[in-house]
Amino acid sequence: MKSILEFYKAKKENRKISVISTYDYWSAKLCEEAGIDAILVGDSLGMVIQGKDTTIPVTLDEMIYHTKAVRRGAPNTFIIVDMPFLSYHISVEDTIKNAGKIIKETGANAVKLEGGEAIADIVYKLTSLGIPVMGHLGLTPQFINILGGYKVQGKTEESAEKIKKEAKILEEAGVFSIVLEAVPSKLAKEITDMLSIPTIGIGAGKDTDGQVLVFHDLIGIFEKTPKFVKRYLEAGNLIKNALKQFDKEVKEKHFPSGEHSYL
Ligand code: KIV
Repeated sequence: MKSILEFYKAKKENRKISVISTYDYWSAKLCEEAGIDAILVGDSLGMVIQGKDTTIPVTLDEMIYHTKAVRRGAPNTFIIVDMPFLSYHISVEDTIKNAGKIIKETGANAVKLEGGEAIADIVYKLTSLGIPVMGHLGLTPQFINILGGYKVQGKTEESAEKIKKEAKILEEAGVFSIVLEAVPSKLAKEITDMLSIPTIGIGAGKDTDGQVLVFHDLIGIFEKTPKFVKRYLEAGNLIKNALKQFDKEVKEKHFPSGEHSYL
């Protein structure tokens, strides 16, 4: 994807969109080489990279640091950056300054904000100023202290209706796409059919316009992953075995051999 216009075009032409959430140079490089449509520098880096329990402590400077590395690895890929918790809530002025800092300093193409009606004015303002915004509904990790856990959202008729209403409000406010996280497949399909902008699902079934997974989940770095993740590789085990082999060869004095030494 080169611009948000290609997101719209993909939806119109019924072409699915692939998005990977990742945070550094080498993984971004692999994503670009593999032809992934867009990279999300997610605030999930607080958990995946920093080992924290939630995304709440992630800072704007950390998002910028990681996005710069991602841009160097994927110079030709559309990059979306999560605005971290409370970086788009305090005032319109602060939000514009923070979003502008992300876009200007990193070369990213868009920002992602969690929430619905409460952020509609901010979405409108940012898009009017030339900053594309992606929405995020359903399980919104920055609301973990309200949601009380990483649970499927929109299971009751009332909560499903609320998510649908917020999706429409976000579309009208100007988002170019919406992430739907951990919602029943039927609800994700209804929202996808209702909107003219693409939905990107994670744990939202097969009918969204695109899919996003976290890089480290997809390659199987950690022992456990949520039900909605398909592990395309068991990289955690492969890497651990390589490290064990290195450890053994160092201790048994088999590494380095002549082949890996300067004569
Ligand atoms: O932070 C993140 O990586 C995300 C995706 C999982 C959608 O928001």
